[in-house]
Amino acid sequence: MEKFSGDGQRPITIELLKEKPLPKHIAIIMDGNGRWAKKRGLPRTIGHRYGVESLKKIIESFVDLGIGYLTVYAFSTENWKRPEDEVDALMDLVVEFIDKELDYLDSKGIKVNPIGYIERITGLTYEKIMTAKERTKDNTVLTLNVALNYGGRQEIVRSVKAICQNVLSGETTIDEIDEEFFANTLYTGGQPDPDLLIRPSGEMRVSNFLLWQIAYSEFWITNILWPDFKQEHLWQAIYDYQNRQRRFGGLKS
Ligand code: IPE
Ligand code: IPE
Ligand code: MG
Repeated sequence: MEKFSGDGQRPITIELLKEKPLPKHIAIIMDGNGRWAKKRGLPRTIGHRYGVESLKKIIESFVDLGIGYLTVYAFSTENWKRPEDEVDALMDLVVEFIDKELDYLDSKGIKVNPIGYIERITGLTYEKIMTAKERTKDNTVLTLNVALNYGGRQEIVRSVKAICQNVLSGETTIDEIDEEFFANTLYTGGQPDPDLLIRPSGEMRVSNFLLWQIAYSEFWITNILWPDFKQEHLWQAIYDYQNRQRRFGGLKS
């Protein structure tokens, strides 16, 4: 589907990408693990395991590029509908990922920032998530938002409830509530909105991801399944993004 050919003259390299403004924030829907496994006659959980390997490599690419924000969709509020053993395997993978990677993430200055209804996650997974968050909270090189038990609608309703509480207690007036105020109450408060949203596995939908924040994000969809997603695909997505024209409702400049 994509051509990995840059401008046709020069291959896409880090230097080429750095010639133009890079996206400040990229969001990725890490999808297609199940299909990847099925194609190979393997259990879905093996697909998830290879998906984690893709994530590790992509994080390294972000560090190399110097992009400050990465949000990855790891588990949605709707994913609880899956069989219990798959949900358990996903939660165990979170523990394994943190156990194996926390030293590396911290050493690179990466802030692990879980976003979503994390309190609903229990046991060891919850403890590890909180440990990773606490240990890396002062890191500034890359904010890695890990969307876990995340749903865009849940996030918005949560904000609305918090604002209502503050209005009732007199802490906030209704006039103070504008778009910026609202955005700051979301899990991603204070962060730039994603410039680019990447969805592997070819699905043409948002699946309840960052509903508010992606209002003006550029979409890049590929048939590549997440476990096959490599740095070259990330670079291609960024290159394509850099060669699009964003208008934000205005006119061509
Ligand atoms: C994405 O892969 C990972 C999660 C949703 C946790 P899927 O498990 O959705 O893979 P497909 O879409 O079935 O291929
Ligand atoms: C979105 O993928 C959620 C994650 C990647 C974590 P899904 O596989 O759950 O989305 P749908 O069901 O295809 O919309
Ligand atoms: Mg899927």
